[in-house]
Amino acid sequence: MVAAGSAVADDVLLKRPAADLLGARPLPPGLHPPSSLGDPRMPEVEPQEVERPGRSEQEIVFSLANLGVTYGKSLALTGVTMDIYKHQITAIIGPSGCGKSTLIRCLNRMNDLIPGAAVTGSAFYHGEDLYGPRVDPVVVRRHIGMVFQRPNPFPKSIYDNVAFGPRINGFKGDLDELVERCLRQAALWDEVKNSLRKSALALSGGQQQRLCIARAIAVEPDVILMDEPASALDPISTTKIEDLMQELKEHYSIVIVTHNMQQAARMSDKTAFLYTEVDQGTSERWGILVEYDATGVMFTKPCDKRTEDYISGRFG
Ligand SMILES: Nc1ncnc2c1ncn2[C@@H]1O[C@H](COP(=O)(O)OP(=O)(O)OP(=O)(O)O)[C@@H](O)[C@H]1O
Ligand SMILES: [Mg+2]
Repeated sequence: MVAAGSAVADDVLLKRPAADLLGARPLPPGLHPPSSLGDPRMPEVEPQEVERPGRSEQEIVFSLANLGVTYGKSLALTGVTMDIYKHQITAIIGPSGCGKSTLIRCLNRMNDLIPGAAVTGSAFYHGEDLYGPRVDPVVVRRHIGMVFQRPNPFPKSIYDNVAFGPRINGFKGDLDELVERCLRQAALWDEVKNSLRKSALALSGGQQQRLCIARAIAVEPDVILMDEPASALDPISTTKIEDLMQELKEHYSIVIVTHNMQQAARMSDKTAFLYTEVDQGTSERWGILVEYDATGVMFTKPCDKRTEDYISGRFG
């Protein structure tokens, strides 16, 4: 299990505007630890050109090729090849244990924090190898924020939760304006504008989750990863989060894990269906990507019978 505390700390440490990385091929400097830059002892790494099928005109944020994860000796996920696009909501669906959280954690190197976890294959972010030798995972997580299943606000005021990351990053602008803007973007402002100094822990679960989203966007990430962000929320809070995501995708690229088929169908642009394969001899289980397509296609004309069975509830 990833320690929530460290995840939050990483989540709020963004220093550099995401624009630094956008389209900056090859080897955008933003992912590199500052100590390695210009160091004559560091060998110059030539940018890798990888031929990938099916590229479209849309800008690709993540390009995954044959991505896999093992925990110790156990294979958890294998053979994931997919591109994730800018300013889209990409949903990841599939049965429990098929590797959805494992996959999403690969996208901001959160699996690095799990002892024994190892990633194989490749994951490119705006054309740069996320797992390249010169890439700093802490910097990666500043650009690629994460919102977890359980809201995890700091035991601080509502205001200070949002202001925390910008303050750490030495934000020099109008902090009040930034906090208001982020709370508005997270569809929480009207509910908290008169109680900004109150403890965040006094908010409802749905409000706390929107506060965590406000906190995540306060540091201007490029991508927001969400692992079942609405699973613990009531239908009204869930609707608010879904509406909010439609707004957020104008500014960010979003990857969301969800068990809620209607939610995936309603709000995502693309859907990836993961499934668990089982070795009948050893009973070992691992996740694979069965199908990935436009959400409309996935939910009306999926190519694979397993996808059809899953989304129609005939799973098994
Ligand atoms: N920290 C870990 N250490 C060891 N094994 C892990 C760890 N996290 C996940 N796994 C294993 O990896 C596999 C995939 O787990 P993962 O949590 O990614 O599934 P999931 O699709 O997110 O499931 P759920 O829908 O229940 O959240 C499972 O077999 C799980 O036991
Ligand atoms: Mg999970």
